[in-house]
Amino acid sequence: MSLDIDALRNEKVRILGISGSPRHGTTDYLTELALESAATASGIETDFLPLHKVKINHCIQCERCLKLDPGQSYEHYCPPFHDDMDELIPRFLAADGYIIASPVYEMNYTPLLGIFMGRFRPLWRVFKGVHRNKVGGAISVGGTRYGGQETTVQLINSFFLLNEMINVSGTSGGYIGACAWSQDKLPPEFNDPSGEEKVRDLGRRVAEVTKIVKAGRAIFPDGRPNLDSLDENPVAE
Ligand SMILES: Cc1cc2nc3c(=O)[nH]c(=O)nc-3n(C[C@H](O)[C@H](O)[C@H](O)COP(=O)(O)O)c2cc1C
Repeated sequence: MSLDIDALRNEKVRILGISGSPRHGTTDYLTELALESAATASGIETDFLPLHKVKINHCIQCERCLKLDPGQSYEHYCPPFHDDMDELIPRFLAADGYIIASPVYEMNYTPLLGIFMGRFRPLWRVFKGVHRNKVGGAISVGGTRYGGQETTVQLINSFFLLNEMINVSGTSGGYIGACAWSQDKLPPEFNDPSGEEKVRDLGRRVAEVTKIVKAGRAIFPDGRPNLDSLDENPVAE
């Protein structure tokens, strides 16, 4: 097999930025800043998803998604609820890399982001490996200087890891994700140049690693299933 290096170099890579704030505020601003920075790498397409604009139910652990009937596909991933997740799942799957951001709520990510992430259970449990070797980086913003930004990015990182993704941060000094301090201020009063620098670094790094991994998968196929061409639906264990 010969590789078309130029085709690999020019292949488009899609980065999805998700803001977990229930309002249009600083987290939206920082997510868009990270996407802007990601787009400075060549061949990057970005998509921005602010969760305050969508209506989704929380998982009730009915377990019906783990026992899909023959012929049902991932499009039936959530038998009890047909809400905005019907459109968000394909949109999520279309991305190669992710930037997930949240305001700090009680030293954690927001309940809204938790509801969104909780709806991915059937995908990783039933359609195993569907996010394998995608790339993810986390951002948090808190009102207090040391208000739980690090615990929040750590918990978002767990979502990437449990989904078999490659978890990245920024450049040196980016630690485990980009942490910002808002002092409860909204843009344009929000003023944290150091936090913004970390956010830009993280956006760029997610883009670079996503490009590298996508090109590398042409050489080392990783078994990530293509849900649209599955002949048979796997059965959950
Ligand atoms: C319910 C609630 C809980 C919060 N808990 C924390 C916290 O534990 N630590 C912290 O630093 N800030 C906390 N904050 C402040 C927000 O994280 C902060 O104002 C953030 O910048 C809001 O981002 P947004 O503008 O994107 O909504 C909390 C805010 C709310 C509404």
